[in-house]
Order: sequence, then structure tokens, then C-alpha cells
Amino acid sequence: MENFEELYTLETECFGGSWTREMLRSELENPLTVLVCECLDERIAAFAFGRVVVDEAELFQIGTLPEYRGRGLAKSLLERLHGEMRNRGAAVCFLEVRSCNNAAIALYEKSGYERISMRRNYYPDDDAVVMRKFLV
Ligand SMILES: CC(C)(COP(=O)(O)OP(=O)(O)OC[C@H]1O[C@@H](n2cnc3c(N)ncnc32)[C@H](O)[C@@H]1OP(=O)(O)O)[C@@H](O)C(=O)NCCC(=O)NCCS
Repeated sequence: MENFEELYTLETECFGGSWTREMLRSELENPLTVLVCECLDERIAAFAFGRVVVDEAELFQIGTLPEYRGRGLAKSLLERLHGEMRNRGAAVCFLEVRSCNNAAIALYEKSGYERISMRRNYYPDDDAVVMRKFLV
């Protein structure tokens, strides 16, 4: 896949390498995966990807390089991602986010997600908040 190494570097910078190179490559090559990127200064400044299975989508990761944060990139990427998911037939999108990730939770709420449940100890060191947004 073109730009894979750049995406992997971005993943590492935003998430500390929570996905291995193999996991990321396999996910991005999956035909069910939807990926959107924002390029600035001739590099990938932000990316988001998820998966659509029949009429349900799931958001897996969204990240903006630290130096490009706070400019609305993630919010506009999410809008594009939702549009692509809708085009593939998704009626709803779900996600899980660390309960301590206030920036991401604020982004998701601003983008129309609502909290629907909590998964205790979902991460080794944190609970997950499960969120949902209807796309149609
Ligand atoms: C979360 C993240 C993607 C936000 O990216 P961004 O491009 O800076 O976000 P935007 O500029 O589009 O912000 C959109 C909204 O999100 C919220 N938000 C973003 N960063 C925030 C912060 N640090 N604190 C509180 N709210 C924040 C705000 O509501 C903001 O709207 P506003 O600027 O009108 O107040 C970015 O901080 C990041 O990459 N974090 C590390 C990876 C991560 O945790 N990803 C999410 C889990 S997969």
C-alpha cells in the first residue's frame, strides 16, 4: 500500500505503537476498511479509519500529528469518514474510547456521538466508553 510507512509513523506518534505494523497493514488492506487522510505541508497530518460491515460501521482510530492539533482537522476528517461509511451502506457508527481520553471524547461528542455504555477494564489500565452516532 502506498504511504503505508508514513501512516505507520503517524500511528506510532499518535498512539505510541498500540498497533503493530502487521496489524495496521492487515487492517488497511481489508476491503471493508474505510481510510481518510488529511495532507498538509506534503505530509499526512491526520488520519482516520474504520470498518463497515453491512449497515454497521466502527471507528478504530483517528489521530492528528501533535503539531497540527487544534485546527479542526480531526473534526473534518470524521465528517468525511462518516460520508464514506454512509456511501457504503452504514446506518450507524460505534466506537470505543478510553474513559480518560477527554480530547477524543469531546471531539466525538462535538461530532454527534452519544455515550451508550461503559466497558469496565476493557483496556489493561482503563475502562472504555462506548459511543454511537446514527449516520442516516
Ligand atoms: C483527539 C485528536 C484526534 C483531536 O485532533 P484535532 O485535529 O486536534 O481535533 P480538532 O481540532 O478537529 O478538534 C475538534 C473538537 O475536538 C475537541 N478537542 C480536540 N482536542 C481537544 C483537547 N485537547 N481538549 C479538549 N477538547 C478537544 C474540541 O471539542 C474541538 O472543537 P473546538 O476546537 O471547536 O473546541 C488528537 O488530539 C489526537 O490525535 N490524539 C491522540 C490520538 C487519540 O487519542 N485518538 C482518539 C482515540 S482513537
